[in-house]
Amino acid sequence: MSLRTLHRSSAVVVGLFALVHITNHLWSLVGIPEHIAFMELARKVYRQPVVESLLLFCVAFQVVSGLWLVMRGWKQRTGAVAWMQAISGTVLAFFLAVHVSAVVFGRTVLALDTNFYYAAAGMHVPPYGFFFVPYYFLAVLALFTHFGCAVYWQLQSATAGMRRLAIGLPVLVGVAVSVLLVLSLAARLQPFEVPARYKATYTHPKG
Ligand code: HEM
Repeated sequence: MSLRTLHRSSAVVVGLFALVHITNHLWSLVGIPEHIAFMELARKVYRQPVVESLLLFCVAFQVVSGLWLVMRGWKQRTGAVAWMQAISGTVLAFFLAVHVSAVVFGRTVLALDTNFYYAAAGMHVPPYGFFFVPYYFLAVLALFTHFGCAVYWQLQSATAGMRRLAIGLPVLVGVAVSVLLVLSLAARLQPFEVPARYKATYTHPKG
Protein backbone atom coordinates (compact mmCIF):
# COMPACT_ATOMS: atom_id res chain seq x y z
CA MET A 1 0.00 0.00 0.00
CA SER A 2 1.44 3.42 -0.96
CA LEU A 3 2.02 6.28 1.49
CA ARG A 4 -0.59 8.34 -0.38
CA THR A 5 -3.23 5.59 0.12
CA LEU A 6 -2.41 5.37 3.84
CA HIS A 7 -2.60 9.19 4.08
CA ARG A 8 -6.10 9.02 2.51
CA SER A 9 -7.26 6.24 4.86
CA SER A 10 -6.09 8.07 7.96
CA ALA A 11 -7.74 11.25 6.59
CA VAL A 12 -11.11 9.46 6.87
CA VAL A 13 -10.65 9.07 10.66
CA VAL A 14 -9.34 12.65 11.16
CA GLY A 15 -12.01 14.00 8.76
CA LEU A 16 -14.88 12.27 10.61
CA PHE A 17 -13.65 13.75 13.89
CA ALA A 18 -13.22 17.17 12.24
CA LEU A 19 -16.82 17.06 10.94
CA VAL A 20 -18.19 16.48 14.46
CA HIS A 21 -15.66 18.94 15.96
CA ILE A 22 -16.45 21.82 13.58
CA THR A 23 -20.20 21.19 13.96
CA ASN A 24 -19.62 21.27 17.73
CA HIS A 25 -17.86 24.64 17.44
CA LEU A 26 -20.57 26.04 15.16
CA TRP A 27 -23.00 24.99 17.91
CA SER A 28 -21.50 27.81 20.01
CA LEU A 29 -23.64 30.12 17.82
CA VAL A 30 -26.69 28.57 19.54
CA GLY A 31 -25.14 29.30 22.96
CA ILE A 32 -22.03 28.45 24.99
CA PRO A 33 -23.88 26.10 27.43
CA GLU A 34 -25.36 24.28 24.39
CA HIS A 35 -21.88 24.05 22.81
CA ILE A 36 -20.44 22.60 26.03
CA ALA A 37 -23.33 20.10 26.33
CA PHE A 38 -22.65 18.98 22.71
CA MET A 39 -18.93 18.55 23.53
CA GLU A 40 -19.66 16.53 26.66
CA LEU A 41 -21.81 14.18 24.59
CA ALA A 42 -19.22 13.90 21.79
CA ARG A 43 -16.43 13.28 24.36
CA LYS A 44 -18.26 10.12 25.48
CA VAL A 45 -17.20 8.73 22.09
CA TYR A 46 -13.87 10.40 21.20
CA ARG A 47 -12.45 10.26 24.72
CA GLN A 48 -12.90 6.48 24.91
CA PRO A 49 -9.25 5.36 25.28
CA VAL A 50 -9.37 3.15 22.16
CA VAL A 51 -11.05 5.84 20.04
CA GLU A 52 -8.80 8.65 21.31
CA SER A 53 -5.63 6.58 20.81
CA LEU A 54 -6.68 5.80 17.23
CA LEU A 55 -7.55 9.48 16.61
CA LEU A 56 -4.27 10.81 18.02
CA PHE A 57 -2.29 8.15 16.14
CA CYS A 58 -4.06 9.13 12.88
CA VAL A 59 -3.45 12.86 13.57
CA ALA A 60 0.29 12.19 14.10
CA PHE A 61 0.43 9.99 11.00
CA GLN A 62 -1.50 12.59 8.97
CA VAL A 63 0.96 15.34 9.95
CA VAL A 64 4.13 13.34 9.28
CA SER A 65 2.94 11.62 6.08
CA GLY A 66 1.44 14.89 4.77
CA LEU A 67 4.66 16.86 5.26
CA TRP A 68 6.60 14.00 3.69
CA LEU A 69 4.30 14.01 0.61
CA VAL A 70 4.70 17.81 0.31
CA MET A 71 8.51 17.54 0.38
CA ARG A 72 8.72 14.45 -1.84
CA GLY A 73 6.66 16.06 -4.64
CA TRP A 74 8.23 19.54 -4.33
CA LYS A 75 10.04 19.60 -7.69
CA GLN A 76 7.36 17.80 -9.77
CA ARG A 77 4.38 19.81 -8.47
CA THR A 78 2.65 21.87 -11.18
CA GLY A 79 -0.72 23.61 -11.38
CA ALA A 80 -2.80 25.70 -8.97
CA VAL A 81 -4.73 22.78 -7.44
CA ALA A 82 -1.60 20.77 -6.61
CA TRP A 83 -0.11 23.83 -4.90
CA MET A 84 -3.37 24.66 -3.08
CA GLN A 85 -3.38 21.10 -1.78
CA ALA A 86 0.26 21.29 -0.65
CA ILE A 87 -0.11 24.72 1.01
CA SER A 88 -3.42 23.91 2.78
CA GLY A 89 -1.96 20.56 3.90
CA THR A 90 1.14 22.25 5.31
CA VAL A 91 -0.97 24.82 7.20
CA LEU A 92 -3.12 21.98 8.60
CA ALA A 93 -0.06 19.94 9.60
CA PHE A 94 1.45 22.83 11.59
CA PHE A 95 -1.94 23.70 13.10
CA LEU A 96 -2.65 20.11 14.16
CA ALA A 97 0.80 19.70 15.73
CA VAL A 98 0.39 22.90 17.81
CA HIS A 99 -3.36 22.48 18.49
CA VAL A 100 -3.27 18.89 19.72
CA SER A 101 -0.12 19.53 21.80
CA ALA A 102 -1.89 22.52 23.39
CA VAL A 103 -4.96 20.40 24.20
CA VAL A 104 -2.85 17.59 25.72
CA PHE A 105 -0.78 20.18 27.67
CA GLY A 106 -3.96 21.88 28.95
CA ARG A 107 -5.41 18.60 30.16
CA THR A 108 -2.31 17.04 31.67
CA VAL A 109 -0.01 19.85 32.85
CA LEU A 110 -2.50 22.68 33.51
CA ALA A 111 -5.23 20.24 34.68
CA LEU A 112 -7.89 22.31 32.91
CA ASP A 113 -11.09 21.20 31.26
CA THR A 114 -10.06 21.94 27.66
CA ASN A 115 -13.49 23.25 26.71
CA PHE A 116 -14.66 26.32 24.74
CA TYR A 117 -13.07 28.74 27.24
CA TYR A 118 -9.66 27.10 26.81
CA ALA A 119 -9.86 27.70 23.05
CA ALA A 120 -11.26 31.24 23.45
CA ALA A 121 -8.97 32.50 26.25
CA GLY A 122 -6.14 33.62 23.95
CA MET A 123 -8.54 35.90 22.08
CA HIS A 124 -9.39 37.70 25.32
CA VAL A 125 -5.88 38.45 26.63
CA PRO A 126 -4.14 41.13 24.52
CA PRO A 127 -2.04 40.87 22.43
CA TYR A 128 -2.58 37.10 21.84
CA GLY A 129 -5.58 37.74 19.58
CA PHE A 130 -3.10 38.77 16.87
CA PHE A 131 -1.94 35.16 16.88
CA PHE A 132 -5.23 33.32 17.52
CA VAL A 133 -7.44 35.09 14.95
CA PRO A 134 -5.30 34.07 11.90
CA TYR A 135 -4.43 30.74 13.59
CA TYR A 136 -8.05 29.51 13.81
CA PHE A 137 -9.15 31.27 10.61
CA LEU A 138 -6.41 29.71 8.46
CA ALA A 139 -6.75 26.26 10.07
CA VAL A 140 -10.47 25.94 9.34
CA LEU A 141 -10.07 27.43 5.84
CA ALA A 142 -7.18 25.03 5.15
CA LEU A 143 -9.31 22.07 6.27
CA PHE A 144 -12.09 22.92 3.80
CA THR A 145 -9.63 23.77 1.00
CA HIS A 146 -7.70 20.52 1.49
CA PHE A 147 -10.97 18.58 1.37
CA GLY A 148 -11.99 20.39 -1.86
CA CYS A 149 -8.64 19.53 -3.51
CA ALA A 150 -9.07 15.85 -2.57
CA VAL A 151 -12.56 15.81 -4.15
CA TYR A 152 -11.16 17.55 -7.25
CA TRP A 153 -8.64 14.72 -7.86
CA GLN A 154 -11.37 12.10 -7.38
CA LEU A 155 -13.53 13.69 -10.12
CA GLN A 156 -11.17 12.79 -12.98
CA SER A 157 -13.95 12.18 -15.51
CA ALA A 158 -16.20 15.12 -14.51
CA THR A 159 -16.46 18.36 -16.51
CA ALA A 160 -13.97 21.17 -15.83
CA GLY A 161 -16.84 23.24 -14.33
CA MET A 162 -17.80 20.47 -11.89
CA ARG A 163 -14.19 20.04 -10.81
CA ARG A 164 -13.80 23.78 -10.23
CA LEU A 165 -17.02 23.74 -8.19
CA ALA A 166 -15.64 20.86 -6.12
CA ILE A 167 -12.95 23.24 -4.86
CA GLY A 168 -14.73 26.60 -5.07
CA LEU A 169 -17.70 25.54 -2.93
CA PRO A 170 -15.67 24.13 0.00
CA VAL A 171 -13.41 27.22 -0.08
CA LEU A 172 -16.43 29.56 0.11
CA VAL A 173 -18.05 27.50 2.88
CA GLY A 174 -14.64 27.40 4.61
CA VAL A 175 -14.35 31.20 4.59
CA ALA A 176 -17.89 31.56 6.02
CA VAL A 177 -17.34 28.91 8.73
CA SER A 178 -13.92 30.35 9.68
CA VAL A 179 -15.35 33.86 10.06
CA LEU A 180 -18.24 32.58 12.20
CA LEU A 181 -15.97 30.49 14.46
CA VAL A 182 -13.47 33.31 14.99
CA LEU A 183 -16.26 35.82 15.75
CA SER A 184 -17.83 33.32 18.13
CA LEU A 185 -14.55 32.70 20.02
CA ALA A 186 -14.00 36.47 20.20
CA ALA A 187 -17.48 36.86 21.82
CA ARG A 188 -18.68 39.04 18.95
CA LEU A 189 -21.80 36.94 18.27
CA GLN A 190 -22.87 36.08 21.82
CA PRO A 191 -21.59 37.64 25.06
CA PHE A 192 -19.60 35.48 27.51
CA GLU A 193 -16.82 35.95 30.05
CA VAL A 194 -13.76 33.70 29.92
CA PRO A 195 -13.20 32.41 33.51
CA ALA A 196 -10.08 33.88 35.16
CA ARG A 197 -8.32 30.47 35.48
CA TYR A 198 -8.28 30.18 31.65
CA LYS A 199 -7.00 33.74 31.13
CA ALA A 200 -4.35 33.10 33.79
CA THR A 201 -2.67 30.55 31.48
CA TYR A 202 -1.51 33.60 29.47
CA THR A 203 -0.82 36.04 32.28
CA HIS A 204 0.72 33.73 34.92
CA PRO A 205 2.45 30.69 33.34
CA LYS A 206 1.98 28.66 36.55
CA GLY A 207 -1.62 29.87 37.12
C1 HEM B 1 -11.95 27.29 15.44
C2 HEM B 1 -11.41 26.10 15.28
C3 HEM B 1 -11.14 25.14 16.41
C4 HEM B 1 -11.31 25.27 17.75
C5 HEM B 1 -11.83 26.47 18.51
C6 HEM B 1 -10.89 24.03 18.37
C7 HEM B 1 -10.91 23.76 19.72
C8 HEM B 1 -10.62 22.54 20.31
C9 HEM B 1 -10.80 22.22 21.71
C10 HEM B 1 -11.40 23.15 22.75
C11 HEM B 1 -10.38 20.95 21.89
C12 HEM B 1 -10.43 20.13 23.18
C13 HEM B 1 -11.64 19.21 23.09
C14 HEM B 1 -11.88 18.42 24.37
O1 HEM B 1 -11.28 18.69 25.39
O2 HEM B 1 -12.74 17.53 24.32
C15 HEM B 1 -9.89 20.47 20.62
C16 HEM B 1 -9.36 19.22 20.41
C17 HEM B 1 -8.94 18.75 19.18
N1 HEM B 1 -9.06 19.40 17.98
FE1 HEM B 1 -9.76 21.29 17.69
N2 HEM B 1 -10.48 23.17 17.40
C18 HEM B 1 -10.60 23.81 16.19
C19 HEM B 1 -10.31 23.30 14.94
C20 HEM B 1 -9.78 22.06 14.72
C21 HEM B 1 -9.48 21.54 13.41
C22 HEM B 1 -9.67 22.28 12.08
C23 HEM B 1 -9.00 20.29 13.60
C24 HEM B 1 -8.56 19.38 12.48
C25 HEM B 1 -9.00 18.20 12.33
C26 HEM B 1 -8.99 20.01 15.03
C27 HEM B 1 -8.56 18.85 15.63
C28 HEM B 1 -8.58 18.58 16.98
C29 HEM B 1 -8.12 17.34 17.59
C30 HEM B 1 -7.53 16.15 16.84
C31 HEM B 1 -8.33 17.44 18.97
C32 HEM B 1 -7.98 16.43 20.06
C33 HEM B 1 -9.21 15.64 20.48
C34 HEM B 1 -8.95 14.84 21.75
O3 HEM B 1 -8.34 13.79 21.66
O4 HEM B 1 -9.35 15.28 22.81
N3 HEM B 1 -9.47 21.12 15.67
N4 HEM B 1 -10.06 21.46 19.68
